[in-house]
Formats: sequence, C-alpha cells, structure tokens
Amino acid sequence: MKREFVSHSPGETEEFAERLAEKLKPGDVILYKGDLGAGKTTFTKGIAKALGISETVTSPTFALLNEYYGSIPLFHFDLYRIKTVDDLYAIGFFDYLDRGGIIAAEWSENIPELENELFNVIKIKIEKLSENERRIIYDLGD
Ligand SMILES: Nc1ncnc2c1ncn2[C@@H]1O[C@H](COP(=O)(O)OP(=O)(O)OP(=O)(O)O)[C@@H](O)[C@H]1O
Ligand SMILES: [Mg+2]
Repeated sequence: MKREFVSHSPGETEEFAERLAEKLKPGDVILYKGDLGAGKTTFTKGIAKALGISETVTSPTFALLNEYYGSIPLFHFDLYRIKTVDDLYAIGFFDYLDRGGIIAAEWSENIPELENELFNVIKIKIEKLSENERRIIYDLGD
C-alpha cells in the first residue's frame, strides 16, 4: 500500500526514516527513486541511526557501495551509473541479498525490472516540492 509523508526539513526526513526503519528486517531492500538532491542519502542517514550506526553516512557515488555494521548491517548502494541487470551482477549487488543486512539503493529507477526481481522490496520515492519540502511516497510492500 502506498502512503505519503511531507517533510519540511532534512532533520524531519531523517526522523521519519528512523521511525520507518523500526519496521525493517534483514533481507529487506529499499529501492529509492528521486532526483539529485531529493534526499535519498539524508533518508539513509536516518535508517543508519535507527540501526545504531554512528559512522557518518555519505553518498556512495564513487564507491558504488558503502557498508555499515550496526544492529543489522546496512549496504548502501548508488546505482547512478548502473544501467542494466548485468551491471548489477557485475558489481555483486545480488550477493548482498543473503548477507543478513538491509540494502538501500539510490537510483533504482535506472533498472526498472529490479523491483519485480526481488522479495521484501520497500519502495521510497522522494519528490522535491520546494527548497526544503519533500514528498516521500513509500510502499512497505503491505
Ligand atoms: N525536507 C528535506 N529532506 C531531505 N533533504 C532536504 C530537505 N530539505 C532540504 N534538503 C536538502 O536536500 C539535499 C538532499 O541531499 P541528499 O544527498 O540526501 O540527496 P540524494 O537524493 O541522495 O542526492 P544524490 O542523487 O545526489 O545522491 C541536502 O542538501 C539537504 O540538506
Ligand atoms: Mg545520495
């Protein structure tokens, strides 16, 4: 079921993500959609906080993947330059599915077929409404 939340600040987005993270379990895959600067990494910071990760979460734009080890591992992918399912295999994306962590992947819109190929998908779309306002459309798969 799709739901919506309107955030008015980066802090509010983080807090919302932190609350949502309480529902997450190992094996869940968050697929983000949203433009540059929408707030995908900001959202991931909130998730990390909920998992007790004290390291600073930064955009994995160049690394493709940042790994954090909290109460549940968090694998944060940036698929900005990934264009095909073959590319995903090449970077080992699917190997992370059974590592008992939560995957959070920015730019999932690059591989539209992805959401149909995975179990336990949580879809999060972030739209910029204004400088500081974001519409967060989320589907926990329930
Ligand atoms: N309500 C809000 N929620 C989230 N971010 C906000 C909000 N208002 C303003 N911002 C700003 O928008 C930017 C979001 O950056 P962030 O790195 O999270 O985006 P991103 O979607 O991960 O971008 P990219 O695709 O470049 O990785 C930050 O500069 C943040 O301060
Ligand atoms: Mg980002």
